[in-house]
Amino acid sequence: MTPPSAPASASQGDVAKGLAGIVAGQTAISSLEGTLRYRGYAIEPLAAAGDFEEVAYLLIHGELPGSAERAAFADRVQAAARAIDPAVLAGLSALARKNPHASPMDALRTGVSMLGLVEGDDALGSHDALVARAERLLGQTPAVLAAWIDMTAGRAVGRWPDAPVAAALLERLTGRTPSPEQQAIFGTTLVLYAEHEFNASTFTARTITSTGGDMHSAITGAIGALKGPLHGGANEKVLEVLREIGSVDRVEPWLQAQFEAKRVVMGFGHRVYKDGDVRAKLLGERCRALVRGTDVEPLEALADRVETRMAETKGLRPNLDWPAARVYHALGLPVKVFTPIFVVSRMSGWTAHVIEQAGDNRLIRPLSRYSGVPPREYVAVTGRG
Ligand code: COA
Repeated sequence: MTPPSAPASASQGDVAKGLAGIVAGQTAISSLEGTLRYRGYAIEPLAAAGDFEEVAYLLIHGELPGSAERAAFADRVQAAARAIDPAVLAGLSALARKNPHASPMDALRTGVSMLGLVEGDDALGSHDALVARAERLLGQTPAVLAAWIDMTAGRAVGRWPDAPVAAALLERLTGRTPSPEQQAIFGTTLVLYAEHEFNASTFTARTITSTGGDMHSAITGAIGALKGPLHGGANEKVLEVLREIGSVDRVEPWLQAQFEAKRVVMGFGHRVYKDGDVRAKLLGERCRALVRGTDVEPLEALADRVETRMAETKGLRPNLDWPAARVYHALGLPVKVFTPIFVVSRMSGWTAHVIEQAGDNRLIRPLSRYSGVPPREYVAVTGRG
């Protein structure tokens, strides 16, 4: 049977497509008014310090840690990274053998789900229990990512280094001890990616939490949302774009072809920042300094040209993924770990939001406007011909 078409009046009317411009709740975790602030602190000095542990502590606990609190927190995160349940590692190892080409994002989504199962996380617990879970996930996630990369390369799973998350993860993913400069800029990217109020993945986590669902379910859903190319997946696409363009003289025709095909250029535009993403400005400057004199410097000339032409032709500015992808490439990281690194960092923001939502909950359940066919009569299958 051919379904009758939807009524011509099925326009979107006053519906806010994509919830654009809708204030869907309150948060004390971050704000984008003026500049990006985490719990009231402007992003600029936090990014300059580049200390992921202090920022994760700030987001989850609400205040910056003193030095003893920071050290104890870092120890707990590191202990969690070293204590992944062997059943989870065995499960991931079997999956890596089955499909070594699977996306590390799928491995993280599956790994977090398995961690919830083995830890018996099946309901929202007390505030303290949620904080403890958040801290464990902060350590477990980078360790699961590094383990998956080892497994798919056919190596034994390496030991988690005695170092803060930024240095440890960089070492595990590149196989080299990073220089202080490399650690610093990688730490800055983790700080910049850590939190961004009601973005799609965080809202997913809050929606799952609002049903009374457990933290691991909320985070599993958030990872799925982050994977999409319009959200976290964009940082991997940025490098594909730069490689595809190839040289400065190909920028104009490449962009023209994108515009004609009505395709978006990855790493540009933002739902909230219409005059440019403060994080992209901060990291863009650091990125240029990082690559100066290295063999990836030619990519920067190409990126500059794209940036200039996007501003001139579309009035669009880069978002954080634009410089982050280039920084990760300059650090020698493979493209497939770019979005998973975003997961490692955003775990701090996601878990802070789960804790906040659980502490003042009401089921998230918006309405929709029906745009389908008019009411019609049911006919039993025998009468449908
Ligand atoms: N390249 C080309 N055109 C773009 C664009 C991009 N990156 N981003 C937005 N536009 C265009 C839109 O197509 C739209 O054009 P139209 O008016 O002709 O339809 C116009 O600019 C306004 O878009 P806007 O309403 O501001 O976009 P949005 O808020 O719905 O979407 C994004 C925001 C992030 C999804 C979008 O900018 C995008 O897809 N960017 C690329 C993916 C990316 O980098 N994601 C990471 C985000 S942090």
